[in-house]
Amino acid sequence: MQNDIGQTGQALQGGRPVKVGNQRTDPFAAPERRLRGIAQQGKNPVASEQMGKGATGNVAAPDNEKCLHGRILPESPHNGDSMGFKITIQPSQHTFLCEAGESILDAALRQGLAMPYGCRDGACGACRGRVLSGSVDTGKAQEHALSATDRTAGFALFCCASPKEDLTIEAREMRSSLDIPAKTLPARVEKMTRAAPDVMLIELKLPACERLQFLAGQYIDILLKDGRRRSFSLANAPHDDSRLQLHVRRVPEGHFTNHVFTAMKERDLLRINGPHGSFFLREESAKPMLLVAGGTGFAPIKAVIEHAIAENQQRPMTLYWGGRRKEDLYLADLAEGWARKHPGFRFIPVLSESAPEDRCNGRTGFVHVAAMQDHPDLSAHQAYVCGAPAMVAAARRDFVGQCGLPEEEFIADSFEFSSDTRTNPPPQR
Ligand SMILES: Cc1cc2nc3c(=O)[nH]c(=O)nc-3n(C[C@H](O)[C@H](O)[C@H](O)COP(=O)(O)OP(=O)(O)OC[C@H]3O[C@@H](n4cnc5c(N)ncnc54)[C@H](O)[C@@H]3O)c2cc1C
Ligand code: FES
Repeated sequence: MQNDIGQTGQALQGGRPVKVGNQRTDPFAAPERRLRGIAQQGKNPVASEQMGKGATGNVAAPDNEKCLHGRILPESPHNGDSMGFKITIQPSQHTFLCEAGESILDAALRQGLAMPYGCRDGACGACRGRVLSGSVDTGKAQEHALSATDRTAGFALFCCASPKEDLTIEAREMRSSLDIPAKTLPARVEKMTRAAPDVMLIELKLPACERLQFLAGQYIDILLKDGRRRSFSLANAPHDDSRLQLHVRRVPEGHFTNHVFTAMKERDLLRINGPHGSFFLREESAKPMLLVAGGTGFAPIKAVIEHAIAENQQRPMTLYWGGRRKEDLYLADLAEGWARKHPGFRFIPVLSESAPEDRCNGRTGFVHVAAMQDHPDLSAHQAYVCGAPAMVAAARRDFVGQCGLPEEEFIADSFEFSSDTRTNPPPQR
């Protein structure tokens, strides 16, 4: 099959196939570094864009991988011996703890606070903010991103500054999808896991020292070589962004998803654009959350839940996850684990076409109907709904029309198929 979607272990450079592999002589490494230098030093949008568009092999070279891995946070940097330093953000008054030696940005993201960032490497200046009280070690901030005058005026780059004492800092927090500009980046397929007969979990790795900032629940577009694009929700929460996770359901005859199941391999190269979408956790609300997922609609719901847990949100959360058969609930163990660990979290699996071997003694039928049966009054709730367009439309109609959910509290992503196929009627499920 002609690979017009991503590249496998090879990529074309100047018309010649060149190997993209583990060798230290990876031919993409040098141009990538050159472009990154231009993009970061001058914040040159053309160079940044070229990194995304250009040679398809423009994904982390071995030297740079060290740099990427160097940025990955341990699960929890708290060792129990230290409480860390208290950081207060102005004007929001949000507070969080930061370990000695940990960057202020890493600590904020780990605790669910969405401060702006770009390279996470002291080069782009996107994380620049002022230290209002207390002192910091400014780390490896580069001169072009933080000048001597900036330092004297009390500015720091929060991706590399670490506290020496309790701090009050002035920083913007991202609360709206409009705060984060979409960017185009190359991405390498790092891992593929068949989670169900028709569901593939894909982990994407970005070039070294590139991160994609997003809000929990947003999606990216995969840019295909023929100009088409396909949207997929990010299944990971923003604090866990070393790899981007996608949950891809195979659509019969689907142009891209068939490729995923029949030809795509680990180390293939893709181009992505994002983040997009207004489906994300509304952190300012204290209302109980009703989360309804159909099939791979679980992906953005997972991101929202993991973000809410990381933020230590105390809001009650009830997840209804629907599939035809038990195997469609491909990460049910994970959801059951959340329910065991977090008293405010409940998980209700719902099967619409259960077979005897599913040994289903739980809920059956349509997932949104099960949610309504348990919550006939949704007037004080906030609902997060994701999945097939028909399910999302029915949930909107019934939650608002029959259960009194305020229209603005219905937050949804409908997995509409791409406009380049909209002339065909969708198969019903
Ligand atoms: C915001 C957003 C987020 C999304 N997130 C995810 C995700 O996390 N996981 C995921 O698996 N999918 C997701 N999708 C759907 C995804 O973008 C593709 O539409 C889907 O994977 C099919 O792509 P394809 O190229 O394989 O099929 P196509 O070649 O585009 O379509 C083949 C045939 O299947 C039909 N079809 C295509 N897609 C659908 C559909 N979703 N429902 C019903 N019929 C369809 C079309 O009518 C067409 O006849 C999302 C869509 C949107 C808009
Ligand atoms: S995120 Fe780029 S300098 Fe901090």
